[in-house]
Amino acid sequence: MKKVVPKNQANRLLNCGMVVMVSCAYKDKANITTCAWQMPLSKKPPAAAVALDKDHFSSDLMRESEEFIINIPDWSILDQVVKCGSWSGWNVDKFAETGLNSEKAHSLVNIPKVKECVGALECAVFDIKDVGDHHLFFGEVISAEAEEDYFKEGFWDTRKVQFIFHLGSRYFFKSSEFIEVEK
Ligand SMILES: Cc1cc2nc3c(=O)[nH]c(=O)nc-3n(C[C@H](O)[C@H](O)[C@H](O)COP(=O)(O)O)c2cc1C
Repeated sequence: MKKVVPKNQANRLLNCGMVVMVSCAYKDKANITTCAWQMPLSKKPPAAAVALDKDHFSSDLMRESEEFIINIPDWSILDQVVKCGSWSGWNVDKFAETGLNSEKAHSLVNIPKVKECVGALECAVFDIKDVGDHHLFFGEVISAEAEEDYFKEGFWDTRKVQFIFHLGSRYFFKSSEFIEVEK
């Protein structure tokens, strides 16, 4: 038997997307925020989107710069992922306070990548939709990279790298299997 889930918890039914760290910058400010609400949008042109609360410092920087980077963390940096999802760039320099290192992007001159992440998609904003309390940032992927030991023949090897998934609040799980099916 299924039970009714309150509408304000409906997002939790979908809330197990792979957690990413969105980095962004504008003028002399750089920031990282943790984001579970992300999605690929298109292969041609390559595009992806992230939904961020309008009041987040990152949203402010991204509305100004119209650029962002989706960094892909693995389980080994869960602690920093949680910190970047708990502290706000309005009052904390998250690169300095978490000890995460910034790295120059390939294409977006002013946006730092998170060096400890295993992959990154550098995005140029082509649209921003007001979707309630969040802004949905649509980004064209200008450049992408992945750790070569973990991304082989076009796929992540989840026997070697464990990604972070968020159930909401303080609850997480990690990818742990790699399964090939007959087509
Ligand atoms: C695992 C995790 C996932 C999160 N996902 C999102 C998300 O998808 N969208 C969002 O707006 N905030 C999300 N948050 C909350 C923000 O990361 C958090 O409020 C952060 O402090 C905002 O930082 P900023 O003000 O520096 O941008 C998430 C937090 C955690 C811990």
